[in-house]
Amino acid sequence: MACPTFLTLIILTTISLVFIPKTLSQQEYVGLKQPDCEHTYNSTLGNICNSVDSCQSYLTFKSNPPYNTPSSISNLLNSSPSLLSQSNNISTLQTIPNDTILTVPVTCSCTGNNKYYQHNSTYTLNILGETYFSVANYTYQTLTSCQALIAQNPYAIRNLTVGLNLTVPLRCACPTKKQTDQGIKYLLTYLISDGDTLSSIADIFGVDQQSILDANELSSTSTIYAFSPISIPLKTEPPKKITKAASPPESPPPPPPKDGGSSSSKKWVIVGVVVGVVVLLLVILAIFFLCFYKRQQPPPKLPPPEVQQLWDSNAKKTTSTTQSWSLSSEGIRYAVDSLTKFKFQDLQNATMFFSEENKIKGSVYRASFKGDAAAVKILKGDVSSEINILKRINHANIIRLSGFCVYKGNTYLVYEFAENNSLDDWIHSEDSNTTCLSWFQRVQIAHDVADALNYLHNYANPPHVHKNLKSGSILLDGKFRGKVSNFGLARVMENEDNEGFQLTRHVIGTQGYMAPEYIENGLITPKMDVFAFGVVILELLSGREVVGSDKNNGLGDQLLSSTVNQVLEGENDREKLRGFMDPNLRDEYPLDLAYSMAEIAKRCVHRDLNSRPNVSEVFMVLSKIQSSTLDWDPLSRSVSQVSDS
Ligand SMILES: *[C@@H]1O[C@H](CO)[C@@H](O)[C@H](O)[C@H]1NC(C)=O
Ligand SMILES: *[C@@H]1O[C@H](CO)[C@@H](O)[C@H](O)[C@H]1NC(C)=O
Ligand SMILES: *[C@@H]1O[C@H](CO)[C@@H](O)[C@H](O)[C@H]1NC(C)=O
Ligand SMILES: *[C@@H]1O[C@H](CO)[C@@H](O)[C@H](O)[C@H]1NC(C)=O
Ligand SMILES: *[C@@H]1O[C@H](CO)[C@@H](O)[C@H](O)[C@H]1NC(C)=O
Ligand SMILES: *[C@@H]1O[C@H](CO)[C@@H](O)[C@H](O)[C@H]1NC(C)=O
Ligand SMILES: *[C@@H]1O[C@H](CO)[C@@H](O)[C@H](O)[C@H]1NC(C)=O
Repeated sequence: MACPTFLTLIILTTISLVFIPKTLSQQEYVGLKQPDCEHTYNSTLGNICNSVDSCQSYLTFKSNPPYNTPSSISNLLNSSPSLLSQSNNISTLQTIPNDTILTVPVTCSCTGNNKYYQHNSTYTLNILGETYFSVANYTYQTLTSCQALIAQNPYAIRNLTVGLNLTVPLRCACPTKKQTDQGIKYLLTYLISDGDTLSSIADIFGVDQQSILDANELSSTSTIYAFSPISIPLKTEPPKKITKAASPPESPPPPPPKDGGSSSSKKWVIVGVVVGVVVLLLVILAIFFLCFYKRQQPPPKLPPPEVQQLWDSNAKKTTSTTQSWSLSSEGIRYAVDSLTKFKFQDLQNATMFFSEENKIKGSVYRASFKGDAAAVKILKGDVSSEINILKRINHANIIRLSGFCVYKGNTYLVYEFAENNSLDDWIHSEDSNTTCLSWFQRVQIAHDVADALNYLHNYANPPHVHKNLKSGSILLDGKFRGKVSNFGLARVMENEDNEGFQLTRHVIGTQGYMAPEYIENGLITPKMDVFAFGVVILELLSGREVVGSDKNNGLGDQLLSSTVNQVLEGENDREKLRGFMDPNLRDEYPLDLAYSMAEIAKRCVHRDLNSRPNVSEVFMVLSKIQSSTLDWDPLSRSVSQVSDS
């Protein structure tokens, strides 16, 4: 729901307008600025050094697997297991129950050029798809901020990969002269959670509320938010066991007072209510009821089917009347029932508000759901055909759709994450640093795609034609196994006895991959996928662009699908094939097998669809080529076994 976010935003804005901190002697409470990764505020980078260089300090951390033993937690936070055990009166070996709040003793120092109070730790990225934000918000529970991580690590936001070590500056602070004079010895960084109020926090640590407000430059009318750190000034060591007073069972946002007059004595976290600002209250009240009213309504209706809009800039679109082949909205609703429905807000969080940093390509974003990587694609209009196909398909070489979200006329599809992007990134990369795909990997990918198409044409129920196969719609996972994606144009294959062929006037596709009969007559048959697949095989062999611009090789500006005929015709065909092959392979391939592969590709791209083989035959040929490749290069066998297991 966007409404609560909107509410909090309004409140936040108002607070910052009304209550600008007047003193700078203590540390500024970071509040909602921390999750706003794209912006850097002074307070998000850390607590400013305003006193001694170094001091003893405490952090709090909520145990949750895998960080639920003194050693795993102290390892994460660069503390010591024995000090941690002492501080919490627990044994060094015990497993700590979930959600226990622990105090973690650390040394806080004023470091770096910018002079922030921080305690450094190191974190090795170990989950695919982790981002600065996920590390700050989830792994470190907001003890650090994405802004500080970005500022203190050399890696570009998009360059994070498993195995990198990040410097993690944990937020801490040392007492100022003024606080020391008042007898304050330590500042503890406490993580506010759902249901906490200023008074409940003060009770936990036995301190008075005013001292917390002072330490964080807050006023008594300010609001505090869950999942943000706050400094607690302590005159003694923190309690050995942190127990919260029985918190309300749920923590529903309190209804705003009916009139502006009744002042609330409790300062609730999450949906804060700024008391006394009558106008603001009325606005909030109006929005609140608007949201509430909306929530009462039945689940969001999907927009009526529209013409699918291709987000793909390569796509060549010819205008034509809309055919009535899109499924009814009834169809979507049915499809959608068996998939996870995501809340838009969860998608926002998982993609860091669809930030540039999380963008993979086009309208596809990398998402992280509690550390699990996924890809989120934004589509306009009717996406029922893609949803309807993918929700029924379970094949290792077809990208898995795990859920969706409909929000403001857009549909957000959540897919499994393909670590190595799409095949065309590897074949046609302009970056010379990209490692080149080996012969074995290429054969394997061709085999994977044939497997997927064979399934789609012959085993899926009902069978489908993909209609948009190209190297850009073949994704590669971490082991370079191919996964077919982009089912936006796919359609159900008509029964063959049934009146023969399907025709469309809605010709849409990517130049170079479209079969001649489709371009000329709008004829849709499984053989159009076979044609496109033939082109993909040629790309794998030659590394060339589908619409050639390699003028210097004498082949001129022509389609890859017609080039192959010249290569395999006449005399010296093996020599000509050598010249056709991707130079990046540097002769590290068996020419005989390459020849067989070029031959099958040539048959696939035959002008006459009846001369093209069925995909089941192509799959068989590629299976043979794959097993011969294993004999040719025994080393790849072990690679293959590793990736199969
Ligand atoms: C942020 O810090 C810089 C340098 O310390 C200071 O010049 C600037 O005024 C600060 N900005 C705000 C909004 O406090
Ligand atoms: C520490 O825990 C033990 C039992 O596990 C208890 O007897 C002891 O009183 C506790 N000490 C403190 C200081 O809380
Ligand atoms: C602790 O949390 C994890 C996941 O957050 C869960 O799998 C596990 O069952 C929980 N353990 C207990 C004892 O509740
Ligand atoms: C903490 O890390 C920062 C950034 O890497 C570095 O500049 C600083 O010297 C470190 N501080 C300590 C005490 O190691
Ligand atoms: C990110 O990666 C790209 C390509 O791998 C490289 O050119 C660039 O220098 C990297 N940026 C940083 C800041 O590491
Ligand atoms: C990260 O740190 C670990 C342990 O300190 C080390 O073994 C590893 O090589 C480091 N990785 C990188 C990429 O520096
Ligand atoms: C940060 O993490 C908390 C707890 O896991 C989660 O509830 C919250 O939504 C996250 N914040 C953002 C902005 O994603």
